[in-house]
Amino acid sequence: MSDNNFLAVFNKNNPRKIVMLTAYDYPSAVLVARAGVDVILVGDSLANVVLGLDATTQIGMPEMLHHTQAVCRGAGQVPVVADIPAAVMPTETDPACTRCVDGAKAFIAAGCVAVKIEWSTHGLSAVRAVRQAGIEVMAHVGLTPQTAVDFKVQGREAASAAAIVEQARAMEAAGCFAVVLECVPEGLAREITGALNVPTIGIGAGKFCDGQVLVLHDMLGLNDRKVPRFVKKYADVSGVIVNAIQSYTQEVRQGLFPDDSHTFH
Ligand code: KIV
Repeated sequence: MSDNNFLAVFNKNNPRKIVMLTAYDYPSAVLVARAGVDVILVGDSLANVVLGLDATTQIGMPEMLHHTQAVCRGAGQVPVVADIPAAVMPTETDPACTRCVDGAKAFIAAGCVAVKIEWSTHGLSAVRAVRQAGIEVMAHVGLTPQTAVDFKVQGREAASAAAIVEQARAMEAAGCFAVVLECVPEGLAREITGALNVPTIGIGAGKFCDGQVLVLHDMLGLNDRKVPRFVKKYADVSGVIVNAIQSYTQEVRQGLFPDDSHTFH
C-alpha cells in the first residue's frame, strides 16, 4: 500500500480503536496481517527483540530497511509504518535533516505509507523536513527509547506532564497524523487524547487512547527477556517452539525421524 487511503483508519471521529502491532520480517508480517490489525509498525525495537542488541540506538538505516522490505512483502494491504532510527535523526551538523529525509524516502520506496519519529531535541525539525518532502509522519512522545535516560513511567510530575502535552501538541501542529504515547500515566494519556485532533496510540498509557500498540515478540512470549509491566502476554510461543525442537531432537536421536512417511523410496 503506498497511497494515503490508510489515513481513513486514523480519523479521530472513528469510534473504532486503532490496532497497531510490530513485525520485523516476512513471516511475522504475513501472520500479523492475516490476524487483521489496522497497521504494522517496523519498530526500532527490532534492535532489542530480533537482533539481540542492548538499545534501539544501536541500529542503523541498513538494518531497518532490510527488515522493512521483508515486512512490506508480507503485509499485503495492511499499511506499514517504519521507525526512523536514531542513527539518521538530525544533529547540529545536519540542520537540513538530509539523512532523515533520505531515510524516510527509502522507507516509502520499500512500500511503507509513513514513518514514525520520536520526540527529541531535533525531533520537530525532523518531522517538519519529512512532511516537507510529502511523507506522512506518526509521532512518538512520553518514553522515547532513542533518547531516554530513565526507562520508567514518564510525566508523573506536573512539569514533565506539561512538557509531554506540549510535545504532543507540537508534533500535531508539525503535521503528524497520529501520536504514540509510551509509558505515561493513564490520566495524562486521557488528557492528551482529549486535547489532540489526531488519534493517540498507547503503549503502557492506559485505555483512553484512540488505539494501542504492542511489540509482537513481547505479547507472543517469543523472547526470554523481561517485559515491561504494561505488556500482556497473549501466548507462550517460546514454550511451543522449544517443545517442538525438543521433540525433533529426541526423535532424531532415537532413530524415529525420519520415518517412512517422510522418506522417498
Ligand atoms: O520500536 C517500537 O517497537 C516502538 C513501539 C514500542 C511503539 O516504537
